[in-house]
Amino acid sequence: MPFPVIPMPHHTHSTIHGTIHGTTRRLLAIVGALLLPAGAGAAPDDPGRVKARQVCSVCHGLVGIAAAPNTPHLAGQPETYLTAQLRAFRSGSRRHEVMNVIASPLSDEEIAALARWFASIRIEAQSPQ
Ligand code: HEC
Repeated sequence: MPFPVIPMPHHTHSTIHGTIHGTTRRLLAIVGALLLPAGAGAAPDDPGRVKARQVCSVCHGLVGIAAAPNTPHLAGQPETYLTAQLRAFRSGSRRHEVMNVIASPLSDEEIAALARWFASIRIEAQSPQ
């Protein structure tokens, strides 16, 4: 069966395809993750979405499918988990050179909005067999 076409919001199309590379592509093929139109219900000016595009997308991708090596996908992860991880990065109880710097200026409201946004992105996984 051919790998299913991944429907994405139009404006993200070229960037995602331009930055997705070997590892991510293979991972997508193996997992067969089918990305559905992102963040249904979130307005274009949703603060979490805006912040994510500005600050997070360079590594975690425009719709939370990571665009960099050794970077986790955030799309569809539980909101409570994302909130807890961002708070842990901010406090330093979870250590990671980059994420500690990224999270340190985030307010509680920004963390909540980011967690809500990434959690709202719907993904579907298909077993390769
Ligand atoms: C320069 C690249 C980069 C940017 C920008 C970045 N991240 Fe990350 N992020 C990473 C990497 C790498 C990890 C993996 C950390 C580890 O190995 O512990 C990570 C981990 C995370 C995790 C933990 C995920 C998990 O599965 O445990 C969350 C949540 C997260 N980032 C949120 C964000 C948010 C929200 C932003 C924007 C405000 C952001 N990141 C910006 C590189 C980045």
